[in-house]
Amino acid sequence: MRTIHLLFLVSVVVFGTLGGCNGGQLRKNFYKKSCPHAEDIVKNIIWKHVASNSSLPAKLLRMHFHDCFVRGCDASVLVNSTANNTAEKDAIPNLSLAGFDVIDEVKAQLETTCPGVVSCADILALSARDSVSFQFKKSMWKVRTGRRDGIVSLASEALANIPSPFSNFTTLTQDFANKGLNVTDLVVLSGAHTIGRGHCNLFSNRLYNFTGNGDADPSLNSTYAAFLKTECQSLSDTTTTVEMDPQSSLSFDSHYYTNLKLNQGLFQSDAALLTNDDASNIVDELRDSADFFTEFAESMKRMGAIGVLTGDSGEIRAKCSVVNS
Ligand code: HEM
Ligand SMILES: *[C@@H]1O[C@H](CO)[C@@H](O)[C@H](O)[C@H]1NC(C)=O
Ligand SMILES: *[C@@H]1O[C@H](CO)[C@@H](O)[C@H](O)[C@H]1NC(C)=O
Ligand SMILES: *[C@@H]1O[C@H](CO)[C@@H](O)[C@H](O)[C@H]1NC(C)=O
Ligand SMILES: *[C@@H]1O[C@H](CO)[C@@H](O)[C@H](O)[C@H]1NC(C)=O
Ligand SMILES: *[C@@H]1O[C@H](CO)[C@@H](O)[C@H](O)[C@H]1NC(C)=O
Ligand SMILES: *[C@@H]1O[C@H](CO)[C@@H](O)[C@H](O)[C@H]1NC(C)=O
Ligand SMILES: *[C@@H]1O[C@H](CO)[C@@H](O)[C@H](O)[C@H]1NC(C)=O
Ligand SMILES: *[C@@H]1O[C@H](CO)[C@@H](O)[C@H](O)[C@H]1NC(C)=O
Repeated sequence: MRTIHLLFLVSVVVFGTLGGCNGGQLRKNFYKKSCPHAEDIVKNIIWKHVASNSSLPAKLLRMHFHDCFVRGCDASVLVNSTANNTAEKDAIPNLSLAGFDVIDEVKAQLETTCPGVVSCADILALSARDSVSFQFKKSMWKVRTGRRDGIVSLASEALANIPSPFSNFTTLTQDFANKGLNVTDLVVLSGAHTIGRGHCNLFSNRLYNFTGNGDADPSLNSTYAAFLKTECQSLSDTTTTVEMDPQSSLSFDSHYYTNLKLNQGLFQSDAALLTNDDASNIVDELRDSADFFTEFAESMKRMGAIGVLTGDSGEIRAKCSVVNS
């Protein structure tokens, strides 16, 4: 064990110096020598689950985003709360995060195959990619690896760092800039809302009481608003969910942008992308699915490198839901 650990550290030091900026120490196929089948193991388990549960890609993609925006992509989102600590998982924006059991299954298999080698942060980054890619039967973006796991997870930091669905363009741009991401990344990554569902209470103010006068959000398509009102019947409905990209919420495609242009973005944060000329031009471009896939791959690479721990920082957790003791 000790020798393996040492060799591992040496290789990290040697190769680690090749990188430069934020996330520069991540590299392609980091586990090639230390755990040659790691990426296949992740893919096989994830594809097996997605084959029988089509809601999983949205869960894992969003989980990776929430991980990266809080303390960097360090698997802090996976940690359970303890008697003395309320973890990110139990913060308000955790609403509907799920799929932790699947990550745990992948980790358990990797611990059997190569104990103590593959980080939970890398497992999550790969799982997000592989779950979305199942639909295409090929990898939709490259994931550089070599992330290590953090030892801190605080609910208060999730609240402070996860963008709110009620935010305007200025605030969203600032939230992303705080993570080293620009307006292109904001518009491109918002395209993740082409899959998955959202809870009524996160947008029903747009239907029933936008400015406090019992009014609707004028920037929301009235035909669509009428439909949403049949799904979300009151401001107090906190349990019903609707598709974020109607009729296409299980398909990863560029339809989100087509919807957005029809003023059918679900959240204020989606609609906000049309309130800025640069962002709106990017929306136009991304309606082309080839452009969307290319750009999404680029922006995911940047998001996946936010604040990563590499080299001998952090640890390789034995179980993703608890930091090593
Ligand atoms: C731009 C800022 C963003 C805001 C304000 C935002 C907000 C939200 C909200 C409020 C939900 C609904 C949660 C629920 O009701 O259960 C949601 C769902 C989702 N978000 Fe975002 N999000 C943002 C960016 C992103 C990014 C960057 C990604 C990934 C790259 C992402 C991926 C997803 C996915 C896949 C879902 C569906 C989850 C499910 O079906 O359970 N979002 N987002
Ligand atoms: C973390 O919490 C989940 C959900 O409550 C639970 O299933 C899991 O066993 C916990 N992890 C550990 C290591 O106790
Ligand atoms: C509380 O936190 C301390 C470290 O700050 C840790 O040593 C201890 O095990 C924790 N106790 C529980 C019950 O989690
Ligand atoms: C989210 O946090 C709430 C408490 O705010 C907790 O009851 C719930 O179990 C958490 N959900 C997940 C998936 O951890
Ligand atoms: C599918 O997976 C999600 C995320 O793990 C879970 O919440 C949901 O209950 C699963 N659905 C079925 C039918 O198993
Ligand atoms: C955007 O929201 C922030 C925070 O609520 C607010 O201070 C700011 O005035 C808003 N900007 C615009 C242009 O509406
Ligand atoms: C955002 O950054 C990427 C990569 O550096 C760059 O290609 C793109 O033009 C930038 N977008 C904006 C709006 O600055
Ligand atoms: C609409 O908002 C106003 C101002 O916040 C509030 O006084 C009123 O009670 C709200 N109406 C409903 C139906 O919640
Ligand atoms: C509203 O959505 C309908 C489709 O449901 C579309 O035909 C119409 O053009 C949209 N209106 C606006 C103003 O975007």
